[in-house]
Amino acid sequence: MQSSLTKAIPSGVFVVTTRSGDRINGMTAAWVTQVSFKPPMIAVAIAKERYTYDLISESGSFCLNTLPAGAEDLGRHFGFKSGRKKDKFEGIPHTLSAKGIPILDGACAYVECELEKTCEAGDHTLFIGRVTDCIILKDDAAPIIFEWHAFFGKKV
Ligand SMILES: Cc1cc2nc3c(=O)[nH]c(=O)nc-3n(C[C@H](O)[C@H](O)[C@H](O)COP(=O)(O)O)c2cc1C
Repeated sequence: MQSSLTKAIPSGVFVVTTRSGDRINGMTAAWVTQVSFKPPMIAVAIAKERYTYDLISESGSFCLNTLPAGAEDLGRHFGFKSGRKKDKFEGIPHTLSAKGIPILDGACAYVECELEKTCEAGDHTLFIGRVTDCIILKDDAAPIIFEWHAFFGKKV
């Protein structure tokens, strides 16, 4: 079912970055969408066990880093291990957003958000963010279109 849903409902691949105090982290997410025009708002579905879940809950802010085609390795880097015990930013070039949240040099755009509310949805929680900044870093870059097999191999 998951591989079919991924084909039926295309999405990009993003790295959700956060800062809570002096702790920073990022995790790959594909379940991301716009949800409001005025004010501009987006939603990202994050499972409770993610370290990112804890840091966004604490800090009330996050950034979506949009990955361009060719940056699949960055998606794998942030998507297959947790930042609880490992600094995933070690050796990964990045700058900081206006709120001090990490922005990947490898991203083609980023969206900075303030957490507006959360909403339980099955085994994930929707983090709904009000957009405070949206910056296009590489205007001519095409984003990755998430394909299940490109990251997870076999169909499920
Ligand atoms: C391509 C891809 C897409 C992913 N999409 C999501 C997602 O939308 N929501 C989610 O909770 N986890 C998603 N994950 C899994 C997390 O990125 C992964 O569990 C990560 O290690 C969590 O890191 P953290 O514990 O440092 O927050 C995805 C992983 C990959 C490789």
